[in-house]
Amino acid sequence: MRKKIIAGNWKMNNTVGQGICLAKEINLALRVKTPQCTVILCVPHTHISAVEGIIDHDKLFVGGQDCSIYEKGAYTGEVSAEMLFGAGARYVILGHSERRSLCHETADILKTKVGKALMHKLKIIFCVGESLEQREAGKHFSVVEEQLKQSLFHLTDAEFGKIVIAYEPVWAIGTGKTASSAQAQEIHAHIRKTIAAHYGKAIADECSILYGGSMNAGNVKELIAQPDVDGGLIGGAALAANTFLPIVEAY
Ligand code: 13P
Repeated sequence: MRKKIIAGNWKMNNTVGQGICLAKEINLALRVKTPQCTVILCVPHTHISAVEGIIDHDKLFVGGQDCSIYEKGAYTGEVSAEMLFGAGARYVILGHSERRSLCHETADILKTKVGKALMHKLKIIFCVGESLEQREAGKHFSVVEEQLKQSLFHLTDAEFGKIVIAYEPVWAIGTGKTASSAQAQEIHAHIRKTIAAHYGKAIADECSILYGGSMNAGNVKELIAQPDVDGGLIGGAALAANTFLPIVEAY
């Protein structure tokens, strides 16, 4: 059975103090009611070690939201995969559409980052997804296929086993618009088929594929009921315990 995962992506929100409060509240709730899925908080780099210090490690994991393409050295402002792991992160988000567009991260840059993250024992939540224009032109299948091929399909079977895919249609991120459960299932199945064509059915069946894009307490049940939707990567609704916990509790 593949892992079911609910991951919060805090993006650039919360001070360290606010982040600790939120993580404590979530941790306490999970102590009372053991989650039936893996729960991950992907927090700003500055928060990793503080959040890591207050969570129960059997229930909650901390992740970063990016890592450097460089190993170490004179790269002012960069944070390496090794540093993330050392601070307590066990996951890292790579390829988020905000970084692809705002920070001009190309498929090749992401391929290098994937290598660095794996080298330093981080599991990767790798984001793929099409823009509205691409969907309207009927290109969504080929867009995600290329994103997978260009940055991930050089990995060995064992390395690919450390990858979680997050399908995040750009038009649904932070817009309140969600892909319908049928749209999500259709493209998740296509992603799994694409993985199977390259790595075989057994590896594709083990790969968790999360949905991201305005997932909330109201739509989570229908989305995760789809056979190829294995959880969610949550933005806005991950910023408060009372909107995040109902998503976790949907499992
Ligand atoms: P929203 O849930 O705010 O749409 O954000 C989704 C996202 O980008 C998670 O990585």
